[in-house]
Amino acid sequence: MARDHVLKVSDLNIDIQRLRTPVFLVDEARLRANVAILKEVIDRTGCRIILALKAFSTYATFHVLRDVLHGTCASSVDEARLGREYFGKEVHVYGAAYSDEDFRELLKYANHIDFNSFTLWEHFRSVALQAKRKKGIHFGIRINPEHSEAPVALYDPAAPLSRLGVVRGEFRSDLLDGISYLHFHTLCQQNADALVRTLYAVEEKFGEFIPQMAYINFGGGHHITREDYDRDLLCQTIIDFKKKYGVEVYLEPGEAVALNAGYLVATVLDVIHNGMDIAVLDTSAATHMPDVLEMPYRPYILESGLPGEKSYTYRLGGVSCLAGDVIGDYSFDKPLQRGDKLVFTDMAIYSMVKTNTFNGIRLPDIAIMDSEKGWVKIHKRFGYGDFKRRL
Ligand SMILES: Cc1ncc(COP(=O)(O)O)c(C=O)c1O
Repeated sequence: MARDHVLKVSDLNIDIQRLRTPVFLVDEARLRANVAILKEVIDRTGCRIILALKAFSTYATFHVLRDVLHGTCASSVDEARLGREYFGKEVHVYGAAYSDEDFRELLKYANHIDFNSFTLWEHFRSVALQAKRKKGIHFGIRINPEHSEAPVALYDPAAPLSRLGVVRGEFRSDLLDGISYLHFHTLCQQNADALVRTLYAVEEKFGEFIPQMAYINFGGGHHITREDYDRDLLCQTIIDFKKKYGVEVYLEPGEAVALNAGYLVATVLDVIHNGMDIAVLDTSAATHMPDVLEMPYRPYILESGLPGEKSYTYRLGGVSCLAGDVIGDYSFDKPLQRGDKLVFTDMAIYSMVKTNTFNGIRLPDIAIMDSEKGWVKIHKRFGYGDFKRRL
């Protein structure tokens, strides 16, 4: 991200040489800055914003978010429980399907539950209506506007044959009794223009049902805290929508909440040569930053350049046995040597929630820091027990 390209390691305001690596650092100062932007959107529009736990669940930092955000959204029973226990406020849940056991448990933690189909709604309806009466739980339907904006097929819930959300042809207007909201999620790291185009499709297909809802959830994927994000357009769009239909609006971003708010610090373990210089690190794309291979993308490293841009170019490889465990090619002002520390940026989102212990590689420590106040403290350390417990 542009902001990080001008950052220096010294701007972190902590001594990274003293850290045991690999370690994720979550910067409360950056979280505060993101939340201030989200607060501005809430204040201008009266919308409600909840944190998508799938992107960022580092609960030791929830105290920074809790006063502004209205709650969390979960994809499973365990996320819902984490949201209830560590965030509080509202807990929304959307899963592609629920087992009977899941649903019973969800009723303990959630106050808003979405169904991915009318068959599921019919299956759970009598239990749900009872929970609505007794506990005030709200139920909704996820719709699929069949309008694609996501740049990558893997992240496009509106792609042909998608299982995510009810398409207009399958929508059951006769089963809306007890349904208080509609939910769509089609965006991925996008600006407000993509939301505007999506809303055209939503209104065209489902507009007739909107006035009878209490609210519409516009999903996640809004990169609201990115420098070039058009917040005026977002705010005007929400204000106009609320006025037109007389409904409340929810947003459930994950990335935007913790964008650029985390780092992964790794150490060079070896430098070898095979056609080019290759540095092997004590981290791994496969286990510690799987989105680098899945998206795929090239994370930025503080004070690095593109290959050839600075004097010394290296391919950075992970410590796992996977041949494709390659983070990318980078250049540096000085030659790399064993013991050098590298700081990967934007590592708070879809990182700690996705790590794994393939090869028995240890999970990185998790530390919380504050780049304004200059402190860092270890939140979690992992070891053999974490590896063994999963097997
Ligand atoms: C239903 C739903 N809501 C919210 C999100 C959060 O999206 P993001 O982290 O891109 O803002 C996702 C991401 O996949 C999602 O599937």
